[in-house]
Amino acid sequence: MLKNKTIVIGVSGGIAAFKSAALVSKLTQAGANVYVVMTDSAKQFIAPTTFQALSRNEVYTDTFYEPDSTKIAHIDLADQADLVLVAPASANTVAKVANGLADNMLTTMLLATKAPVVFAPAMNVNMYDHPATQRNLQQLKAYGFQVIEPNAGYLACGWVGKGRMAEPEDLLELVQLMCLDQTVFTGKRVLITAGPTREKIDPVRYLSNYSSGKTGYALATEARNRGAHVTLVTGPTGLKPPSGVEVVPIQSAEDLYEEVTKRFNDVDIVVKSAAVADYAPEIVENQKRKKQTDQWSLPLKKTRDTLKRLGELKQSQVLVGFAAESQDVEFYAKDKLERKNLDLIVANNITTEGAGFDHDTNIVTVYAKDHYEKRYPLASKKDVALHIFDEIEAYMKRSDVL
Ligand code: CTP
Repeated sequence: MLKNKTIVIGVSGGIAAFKSAALVSKLTQAGANVYVVMTDSAKQFIAPTTFQALSRNEVYTDTFYEPDSTKIAHIDLADQADLVLVAPASANTVAKVANGLADNMLTTMLLATKAPVVFAPAMNVNMYDHPATQRNLQQLKAYGFQVIEPNAGYLACGWVGKGRMAEPEDLLELVQLMCLDQTVFTGKRVLITAGPTREKIDPVRYLSNYSSGKTGYALATEARNRGAHVTLVTGPTGLKPPSGVEVVPIQSAEDLYEEVTKRFNDVDIVVKSAAVADYAPEIVENQKRKKQTDQWSLPLKKTRDTLKRLGELKQSQVLVGFAAESQDVEFYAKDKLERKNLDLIVANNITTEGAGFDHDTNIVTVYAKDHYEKRYPLASKKDVALHIFDEIEAYMKRSDVL
């Protein structure tokens, strides 16, 4: 995602500088061209050689080190940057930038750059809470810089409170989102359903299925990474939802029907990967059922089919359904595509090795309304999500609904 992007990481003095080494490593692995600028204090915590090895680029520490006479180093770096992230941002560096001081390579470059700038402060809780620091952080925001709040927890100085620098994984995600290129999904509103539903029997029991939610969560991440505004309507999964996505938790097929149909008018694309119960107990007991009899028959009633309803309500939305089948996959998938008035359907045979519920992989075939179809080989659910959005994009281009 970060190919051809130049990210400048400013490292100021703080023990969290060790976390920046992990960040630089992750950014480089994600394809970014990373330059590190260190203050003198930062060098007390970590050696420039570490950053040089991880970024495979020279590390800038001195404003007046000008190895190339055709350029002025701090201006050249400021101009090249697609994004500058100061991590850790010490109270001193925050104060200097807030007041426009430029007394080292980092602060000089920050004054010169036109790229988006993000600060990830890290310091002792009392330093962070100090009115001077708070005023300076407000000032940075007023300049249009982004400030990533530190996390609360145990601090290296022994205090417990707010001051821990945001984690490298979260900073990586933020950088990736801020560096997104324009795609056909930029600004599009995408609704994704994920996971199983739970149909209540009594206060302690429910009917459900083996859906893990992994595909739906991967789809939500992929849609977000392509610049869409994502709503994730999710059954109980235990998975961590991707950041930057609106999460709507549901339990039953009925909850899902309500939450999805009421949002349908306001979305452009719906991908219905949730494994919705087709039947739910006719009566939900208020009290726990006691085991008085040898046998127990539980009358079930059909749930409302959300996807079918969306097919009826559909105007310009692109509607994508799923068909997890154990036999006659193509026949049932094409039948659902037509019967539910879908644009695309993603089919898989749950009896095939590596496919189906609660695995990390799947083998899918995508069938489109315009009779286009494509079979994909075994792939991780992350890659399946990528293929599905490629297919949605191709379909939107073919049918002129961009
Ligand atoms: N679906 C839904 N609401 C339901 C049942 C299913 O929205 N009450 C959606 C699923 O999210 C999936 C698609 O319909 O995208 C296909 O689900 P599936 O259970 O395979 O289809 P059914 O029409 O219920 O067909 P059958 O159970 O007979 O195979």
